[in-house]
Amino acid sequence: MDRMKIGVLTGGGDCAGLNAVIRAVVKRAEYHGFQVIGIRYGWAGLVNADAVPLSYKDVREILDVGGTILKTSRTNPLKNPADAEKVLANTKKLGIDAVIAIGGEDTLGVAHKLALKGLKVVGVPKTIDNDLSATDVTFGFDSAVNVAMGMIDRIRTTAASHDRVVVVEVMGRHSGWIAAEAGLASGADVILIPEHPFDLDEVCQKVNKRVAEKGSAVVVVAEGATLKTSPGAISKESKVDEFGHVRLGGAGDFLADEIEKRTGLETRSVTLGHVVRGGSPSAFDRVLATRFGIAAVDLVEEGKFDMMVGLQGTGIVAVELEKAVAKLKTVDEALFEAVKTFLE
Ligand code: F6P
Repeated sequence: MDRMKIGVLTGGGDCAGLNAVIRAVVKRAEYHGFQVIGIRYGWAGLVNADAVPLSYKDVREILDVGGTILKTSRTNPLKNPADAEKVLANTKKLGIDAVIAIGGEDTLGVAHKLALKGLKVVGVPKTIDNDLSATDVTFGFDSAVNVAMGMIDRIRTTAASHDRVVVVEVMGRHSGWIAAEAGLASGADVILIPEHPFDLDEVCQKVNKRVAEKGSAVVVVAEGATLKTSPGAISKESKVDEFGHVRLGGAGDFLADEIEKRTGLETRSVTLGHVVRGGSPSAFDRVLATRFGIAAVDLVEEGKFDMMVGLQGTGIVAVELEKAVAKLKTVDEALFEAVKTFLE
């Protein structure tokens, strides 16, 4: 009998830990006697039949390597019905029995819709944004928070040396997890997240208060943060990707200008952007990514598809893909309460 062949792909924005999942998938697949084929550039790899066989020797040294050896893209194969058909036809042509899709809400949303068309697919939740439901956390988030924390620590010392205000913008799309956790972990003076729209006068009052207390202030703002007076993220660009997401960025520059204008304090802006996506995964993410990869192959072995692996408490669970992508997971009130405690 032919050995089961699993295709593995990484879609959407990269993050630390993708290679750790790929390595674990190959290791566990070999344990079950399955073959693995690496699909390149996310769903585009199935539209274009772009894939390479993977054995453990190809992946044994990539646990700590950032990015993805399989490359990634934001290709949405469901935008065009012909592409969706190509995905199904190429899966067959490549002899792939099941696909493990490593991605965030877009990649996994596509996975669920393709599962309804007959694709045997298991999802692995990835994103620095930590905005997927049905899992306590996505891999990539912890590494991003640690990088952001380290950067903000450095910025704080410079802000203090020069008696300046520094606004630091971090990614996270429409959820404020990175801003909230990195801000809390680095002792930021003001933290602004999309879940709680802000008022410019209140922000300036807080900045003035901190500067009066200690001479400087660090403001952490999520790229998706919004003003109370005008809903919608503050963004320089109007370009949208294949999933209809606007390219965010610009909240930090906007805020720094407004703070300087309104308070007269010297204010600079730093955008961390993609810096928090790159580099080596944290120990937490290496372990989580490894556990996710193993669990995803086990789901294939058990014949459980249209499912995603997730972390709930300390255990790895299987959840319906549909539930994972149904609703954006935003910063909860308990975390926000902790954030607020230090902003007074
Ligand atoms: O979803 C991850 C993420 O890094 C978001 O935080 C950010 O808004 C977006 O991707 C940036 O995407 P790109 O790399 O395509 O500019």
